[in-house]
Amino acid sequence: MSVVFLLLTLGLKNKDFQYNTLNTYYKLETMRVLTWVKPTGDGMHLWNYLGMFRPFMNQARWHEAFLFLPDFHSLTSVHDAKKLSANKKRLACELFALMPDDAPFTVFEQSEMQYINDISWIISSVTPYSLMLRAHSFKDSQTKNSDINMAVFNYPILMAADIIGYDVDLVPVGRDQQQHLEFTRDIAWNFNRTYDTEFFKLPDAYIQDDVALIPGLDGRKMSKSYDNFIGVFDDEKTLKKRVMSIVTDDKWLDDIKDPDTCNVFALIQFFANSQRVETIRQKYLAGWYGYGHAKLELLEILWEYFHDARLKYTQYMDNFALVQAKLDIGNKRANQLHWDKYHELKKIVWLS
Ligand code: TRP
Repeated sequence: MSVVFLLLTLGLKNKDFQYNTLNTYYKLETMRVLTWVKPTGDGMHLWNYLGMFRPFMNQARWHEAFLFLPDFHSLTSVHDAKKLSANKKRLACELFALMPDDAPFTVFEQSEMQYINDISWIISSVTPYSLMLRAHSFKDSQTKNSDINMAVFNYPILMAADIIGYDVDLVPVGRDQQQHLEFTRDIAWNFNRTYDTEFFKLPDAYIQDDVALIPGLDGRKMSKSYDNFIGVFDDEKTLKKRVMSIVTDDKWLDDIKDPDTCNVFALIQFFANSQRVETIRQKYLAGWYGYGHAKLELLEILWEYFHDARLKYTQYMDNFALVQAKLDIGNKRANQLHWDKYHELKKIVWLS
């Protein structure tokens, strides 16, 4: 297992998370990988796509892949029911629009999981309060709000249940979620020790540092909170406005430009094929190629890249039943796994 994990980690280090050369090793042991998109914001932006979705699609080629919408977690911060359901609907349409129709993932809704809160309660019964007091997430919320709700405090326990309730092996996360993954391991470990069992698997976090390199419109890390993002499904007008506002240096049209320090070029590199990237690089180095030109190329590249997904997205938004049918399949499968785990768990804690 550790050799496989090491190879996986090495494979994941390269930029696009392509690890085809290693695929013979993956076949030795398939892992269960879990990822998520939280329905709190207004849909996916390029950072979600590059940092989460695309690597996940690659992992799903060799692993058993789960993607879920943590809508119980969204309740900690969104108390506008209409807004939350609109966000969730939109996100589900976006996700399925980006996936191949026959994608072998299990996509599910957290709030449709019958036993998630039961599992969460049982593990919270062996989770030390002192551990929870160390959580950055609730400490951060506490500094911003005069009072926090209990769900914010209990958040890491529910998150642990999301992971160990399905025997997940690997969770790709950004640095912001690293502590939560450590808590998940601690919580699982505590349970196992208390009941003298190895019932819960201790999941590994795969920390994706590369994600931080995706620049937003202002050159800072792309993020919803900085409002410097480009939405994957932005309409043409919004997309153009956003791309045209990417910050560049103030070189003149005839100047030679450095592609490697340019935010526009950084984004081009993620979406254009290597030949086109090289052609554009040469244009930067030759001069008489303005940032306006580069932005128009980026616009075109993005528009083409997401063309098919955009069509599917419109179709799904117009007919949500198509998406609900797919979610129902994922919910059923995830529920089955939870059911099995929960019933074993009951036997451990009650000898039932
Ligand atoms: N904590 C994650 C976030 O804030 C969401 C989340 C909930 C999650 N449960 C999870 C992530 C389980 C990974 C695994 O975005």
